[in-house]
Amino acid sequence: MRYPPAAKKFPHILHGGDYNPEQWLAWKDKIWKEDMRLAKLAGINTLSVGIFSWTALEPEEGVYRFEWLDEVMDMLAGNGIAAVLATPSGARPAWMSKKYPEVLRVNELRLRNVHGERHNHCLSSPVYREKTRTINSLLARRYKDHPALAVWHISNEYSGDCHCPLCQAKFREYLKNTYKTLDALNEAWWSAFWSGAITDWDQIESPGSPGNGGHNGLKLDWRRFTTEQFVDFYLNETAPLKEITPDVPCTTNLMAGYTGIDYARFAEVLDIASWDSYPRWTSTEGNGEIGLQTSYFHDLIRGLKRRPFMLMESCPSATNWRPVAKLHRPGLHKLQSIQALAHGADTIQYFQFRKSRGGPEQHHGAVVDHEGSENTRVFRDVAELGECLKGLDDLAGADTPAQAALIHDYQVRWALDDAKGFLQNKTGYGETVIGHYRPFWKRGIPLDVIDSRQSLDKYRLVIAPMLYMLREGTAERIDAFVRQGGTFVATYATGYVNESTLALLGGFPGPLKETLGIWCEEIDALYPGEANSVEWNGKSYRAFDLCELIHGQGAETLGVYGGDFYAGRPALTLHRRGEGRAYFIAARTGEDFLDDFYRHVSAEAGVTPLFEELPEGVTAQIRNNGEKDFIFLMNFTKEKRRVSGDLSLEPFEARIMETCAVRL
Ligand code: GLA
Ligand code: ZN
Repeated sequence: MRYPPAAKKFPHILHGGDYNPEQWLAWKDKIWKEDMRLAKLAGINTLSVGIFSWTALEPEEGVYRFEWLDEVMDMLAGNGIAAVLATPSGARPAWMSKKYPEVLRVNELRLRNVHGERHNHCLSSPVYREKTRTINSLLARRYKDHPALAVWHISNEYSGDCHCPLCQAKFREYLKNTYKTLDALNEAWWSAFWSGAITDWDQIESPGSPGNGGHNGLKLDWRRFTTEQFVDFYLNETAPLKEITPDVPCTTNLMAGYTGIDYARFAEVLDIASWDSYPRWTSTEGNGEIGLQTSYFHDLIRGLKRRPFMLMESCPSATNWRPVAKLHRPGLHKLQSIQALAHGADTIQYFQFRKSRGGPEQHHGAVVDHEGSENTRVFRDVAELGECLKGLDDLAGADTPAQAALIHDYQVRWALDDAKGFLQNKTGYGETVIGHYRPFWKRGIPLDVIDSRQSLDKYRLVIAPMLYMLREGTAERIDAFVRQGGTFVATYATGYVNESTLALLGGFPGPLKETLGIWCEEIDALYPGEANSVEWNGKSYRAFDLCELIHGQGAETLGVYGGDFYAGRPALTLHRRGEGRAYFIAARTGEDFLDDFYRHVSAEAGVTPLFEELPEGVTAQIRNNGEKDFIFLMNFTKEKRRVSGDLSLEPFEARIMETCAVRL
């Protein structure tokens, strides 16, 4: 039953989720058996075990209790259920914190946490690393030939940072390796400002505490370092697994909205990308908007490896930690699950299979409720989906044939968020990227969301909103892409700084000046409610927040500002370069402009929508398995929507249509 990575894809869509049978050890004869009956009824073919099981596995230092897990693994195998087996480092036994306080995380005020909860460990602690390695080795050795073992789930939702002395020392090491000399570091951090020059590596302190809150160079490097800490910690966890079970893929569950780790870098060490999705359905934002954001997050995770991913967690009903824990409206469960598949997921997994009887998450939606039977609305929803997934084996491993890419770069975001100027703390990088995603979602055009270091070769159209920081090689890659016939779109706040956040001298957008054929001289920030306009193609569009004052230097002016002292100056330009085209949007604009603009640009670039027109709140997506296309149509509204002719979607309906691969 093992799904070898050599097969390149899972033979089935996996359906299941977190399973915590150790919570029910005292009732195991009754509950575990019942769990298997219910899992089968729900069409579940995978369960994730061991995620927070360290204390159950090692109740005292060096005293191991694997018998219960042996029984669980055998039970899963016996029932045809694949195990996503976790390493337990997401939470640890109290004995460990007591005996080795260094495992506890220290916050930015240099205060050490007390033991409790989870996700609260130091990333450097040699003791913690040794302990995780030991328990991981024992797990790998014990289950290496177990027929249930399918995927390793490393830890859980890595996040945060640690400011303990061990981490400070490692940070200084990291900086030494990066900069080699203090002169280079001082140059990168522009330390002559405010008397900030560092004259001894030991003077460097991690940022975040009062008095040391704001230096942008330091903060950027701290985030990069923290990302490397997670990479390193992950590699320490996976080393024994790779050695003992080289054929079992490893992943860790990411959080698409989390920006504390550069996931693009982290994904380099993952075998499969996976994430936990908890959309805020039925909130005041409207399900159309939530549908769009969720699609974007799926595409962001798929873009990390540009391959199908795992939806490691989702909720079949109310998410307890939301301030208003709304029930899923009928149809929503299937819709959110098909949506994940539409964007490249090969698994639909939940937190969790059976509701915990107590503890902080006892009211979190689960497949099996406290009532305990299959006679609940949520269970029926899950079982209905399980039936549907059984018919989708051909979809597993299918590709997303995107011809256009949208650049979202964690490091650009960090640099912009820390930049003092423009609209402080409200530069809105994330919202802007989603704003440029929206016109494509509305028309059913698949997009890869990628970071600025990825190759652009396979695309016809590349969009890079607010590419404030140009990382090594990015400008050159973009220029080559344009010269070879690609269409590139850039916006205001592009090409201001290099990878150390030092301003690019000689005019913005630095090396992209030639590609875009413009020079950005100044940028104006507008108060909330204040507006200018972009006049383009006989229409006037609202411009707000940020308006850049640019000069054409080879680019032709397509649109101009309508107001203020820069009225008549270029606001939208096109530079024809080599075989390609480079557009520049100088001001922040609303949905109306972006809809019209991208309709024009995507048609010109030969990037075609799946449907010419889609009604509001409906999107379409595509996957291709080499033989056929799967077209997904999804209605995120609670109204019936007509797509075309007699093709209509019921409220919250998701439909999958299989066709011969004729497109793209
Ligand atoms: C996260 C965690 C799970 C659980 C869920 C609840 O995704 O990984 O352990 O806490 O949230 O939504
Ligand atoms: Zn630490």
